[in-house]
Amino acid sequence: MKKKVLITGGAGFIGSHTYINLVSAGYTAVILDNLSNSNPCILDRLESITNTKPELIIGNINDAALLEETFSKHNFSAVIHFAGLKAVGESVEKPLDYYNNNISGTLCLLSAMQKAKVKTLIFSSSATVYGNAESSPLKENHPRSATSPYGRSKLIVENILEDLSFSDPTWNIACLRYFNPVGAHPSGLIGEDPKGTPNNLMPYIAQVAVGRRSSLSVFGGDYNTPDGTCRRDYIHVVDLAEGHVAALNYYNSNSGLITVNLGTGSGVSVLQVIEKFEEASGVKINYSITSRRSGDVAECWADPTLAKQRLGWVARRSIEDMCKDTWNWQSKNPTGLSDQQ
Ligand code: NAD
Ligand code: UD1
Repeated sequence: MKKKVLITGGAGFIGSHTYINLVSAGYTAVILDNLSNSNPCILDRLESITNTKPELIIGNINDAALLEETFSKHNFSAVIHFAGLKAVGESVEKPLDYYNNNISGTLCLLSAMQKAKVKTLIFSSSATVYGNAESSPLKENHPRSATSPYGRSKLIVENILEDLSFSDPTWNIACLRYFNPVGAHPSGLIGEDPKGTPNNLMPYIAQVAVGRRSSLSVFGGDYNTPDGTCRRDYIHVVDLAEGHVAALNYYNSNSGLITVNLGTGSGVSVLQVIEKFEEASGVKINYSITSRRSGDVAECWADPTLAKQRLGWVARRSIEDMCKDTWNWQSKNPTGLSDQQ
């Protein structure tokens, strides 16, 4: 019998890519998503890629009755928990929305899991829990702090999961701290599809390249870095998807709580991303260097050693692959999935 996994937020960017890797690793999966930041036509795209249409339950992780019904109907072996809000700036304006979705929603999910005796959880954490770290690479034991309500919501959930694991060691919990997920499935059928103006660099560049936006603002050219722009650890979303399967498989022969970075271990500057994207797309990216964005750190990248040791996982795809696959997706879907049914 195939193991069945619940993917909360599985219609979103990282969840939809992870669905594909789960299916190819022999799992079946059910998606629970309120579609607040995704489009149901993703299901047809996932069916084209995997030959299996995922079951989608449209609903909120804060809906205890729905969760109880879902867990009683399906025999899940694990939950991969992506559902949540993720825009740092918006979280400053609407902190209650963030705490409600990301913290209350996770508590509601954990209670339902406990009732249903499903005690394996893979949680989407973030490098944001390292706060304004002064130097990289970052190891998992680097002190944590929050610089926004979004970051605080991830930090608080990590704390909750640590308390839960301490109180009941039969829980298997993997906190995966993603660095900067970018890229798309090589088919070009699915990719990052932000609503409104993109907050993050790669989707913004892709929208400039495809003609949806006229110019990119490079936030700051006077950082203490080799070319003056910030360096980040961009990681291909398919590598990230593989990391989730590795974390699930880890619990075939291990137990307890692990917290690991999912990153490549190297920093790439904003100007380097622009250059690589131009090479991959053949399109000149119109940009200008503007003032710094408040809250940005000069450099942030992972030490990914622990993920290799514990999960046997390493990121294999290059920045060239990330740009090529982003462009393949964006050029085939200039307006994302918004004009689809
Ligand atoms: P996404 O917005 O594309 O996907 C999240 C999905 O969750 C969306 O489909 C949305 O509709 C759904 N959702 C939101 N609130 C919900 C709720 N209350 N109930 C049910 N569904 C809900 O985001 P993503 O980039 O795929 O990120 C997935 C997770 O990874 C998030 O928890 C995010 O905080 C975390 N993360 C993302 C990044 C990144 O840069 N993308 C980096 C670090 C961590
Ligand atoms: C941001 C979030 C972080 C989150 C991460 C996930 C902030 C302060 N941090 O990280 O909490 O975990 O996304 O993806 O929002 N840039 C530009 N022009 C743009 C957009 C970005 O120059 O239009 C620059 C930024 O200044 C930064 C780099 O590109 O130097 C990457 O930015 P972004 O993609 O937003 O990611 P982070 O800031 O690393």
